[in-house]
Amino acid sequence: MIARLRSATGLVLMSFLTCHLINHAFGLVSFEALAIAHKILLGIWRTPPGSALLAGSFLIHFGLALRSIYRRRTLKMSLWEAGQIGSGLLIPVLIAEHIMGTAVAEDFAGIDPNYQYVVAALWVGSPTSGAIQAVALVVAWLHGCLGLHFWMRVQPWYENIRRTLIFIAVVIPVTALAGYISAGFELLSELNRDHMVQQILLQAHFQAEKVAPLYALLRPVTLALIVLAAAPFAARLVRGRLPYGNRVVLLLPDGGKVPVPAGATALEAIRASGRPHAAVCGGRGRCTTCRVRILEGASLLAPPDELEKKALERIKALEGVRLACQIRPTSNLGVTPLLPPTAGAKEGRQLGGLEGEEKRVTCLFIDMRGSTKLGEEKLPYDVLFILNQFFSEMTKAVAETNGHYAQFNGDGLMALYGLTGTPEDGARDALRGAVAMLRRLDSLNEALKSELPFPLQIGIGIHHGDAIVGAMGPPQAQITSAIGDTINIAARLETLTKQNGVPIILSRETAKTASLNTAGFDPASIPVRGRDEPVDIYLIPNRDALPA
Ligand code: FES
Repeated sequence: MIARLRSATGLVLMSFLTCHLINHAFGLVSFEALAIAHKILLGIWRTPPGSALLAGSFLIHFGLALRSIYRRRTLKMSLWEAGQIGSGLLIPVLIAEHIMGTAVAEDFAGIDPNYQYVVAALWVGSPTSGAIQAVALVVAWLHGCLGLHFWMRVQPWYENIRRTLIFIAVVIPVTALAGYISAGFELLSELNRDHMVQQILLQAHFQAEKVAPLYALLRPVTLALIVLAAAPFAARLVRGRLPYGNRVVLLLPDGGKVPVPAGATALEAIRASGRPHAAVCGGRGRCTTCRVRILEGASLLAPPDELEKKALERIKALEGVRLACQIRPTSNLGVTPLLPPTAGAKEGRQLGGLEGEEKRVTCLFIDMRGSTKLGEEKLPYDVLFILNQFFSEMTKAVAETNGHYAQFNGDGLMALYGLTGTPEDGARDALRGAVAMLRRLDSLNEALKSELPFPLQIGIGIHHGDAIVGAMGPPQAQITSAIGDTINIAARLETLTKQNGVPIILSRETAKTASLNTAGFDPASIPVRGRDEPVDIYLIPNRDALPA
């Protein structure tokens, strides 16, 4: 309901703004053309129902924006989102004087704020205000376009018309500004300018003594708007100092525990912890890229509201799948993301996760060597601590190189690259992932020097090829993983690292897909069970041999 109201009021405001800008563009024709276009394009908005719709939409839209800022549990967001919120807060402050001199002056001082009057007021009366209104125009248009972009980008048809929309989004404000400037210059260059301005003021029923009290209110009104825009941020600060009571925790598949401030969504909590998580629509419940499977605590979650229910129905989500941006955990909750952090709108349209699709992916297997020996030399609690540190570092390396954690197996894990983007990028990311893992392992060995009986070592196997990718595992614990020859070969390459005394073995197919310069690498061929052909591989002696 709230999301719909926000979209509907935003559309009303954008329609008005479009009419307003097109009206400005007529300034390129003539002053008279402006006046005629003003009557046609803005006449409807000046009727009592039109004015009420506009004012109501503005108040609701602005109010909902303040509410959403307060309700967000973290201000971590993309630059685009920050731009949209920032521009939205700026608009009322920028247009306060314009509203006061037109709509308010019309109602309370009997002025007819026709276009000539506005141009005369801005270009002759107060050129500074004229410049501010030009800035306001650009800011408001930018805000509206960003809103429309977030609203439409989850639609399958959006990509097809995106270029046309960008063209329109640029042409309208540019011609509007040109028209506004042209009209201003036409007035300024008028030989009999003072007389003309007098005529315009007369026609607009302008009376200085009636308008003056309104302008006296401008400063306090502007101040009030600034205070209002700052209010949700101040309220957040106060809220942040209140005791939370028992903190709720999100349990993630990498073993991480993310605290959830009271009332926060799972998405906000995950992002606040610094972990990337897909959210193409910015948490509006439209794209479904933030989908997660609830592994623990599902019964204590509030059921999906209408918006979430519809989104889940659209992707035919299995039981236990929820949108991270819509659930607000009130007790500990185990969740696992179903799409990689890099998922885009296209992945958001896939059904219930990745539905058993054959895909070219790069698979990376990693295994910690000597974990049995570690168990013999350290207490079980210490081994667990070391393993958890190890997995934490390895999953960070996967996440920072656009990989997707896909499987855990005691002292190793599997990561998939190329689930989104091109297979070539996926192969290159996998190589970067291997380098990042070895670099993080070095740091970990340094940090745990006093605890470790010997430095930790790993073996990494990487292969590129076709695999069946999809949500797998028991019904209540499915994650996006992959099966097939490619996966088996990557696992086999990892086991060969130890006997070959190298940290990384990658297949020739991976090197070729990543366009890796292999001069200087040791080539070899290995037989693989179930395949007639051996697999060509490269032995990588250290992480410096690969591009970081
Ligand atoms: S972020 Fe788009 S539905 Fe959750």
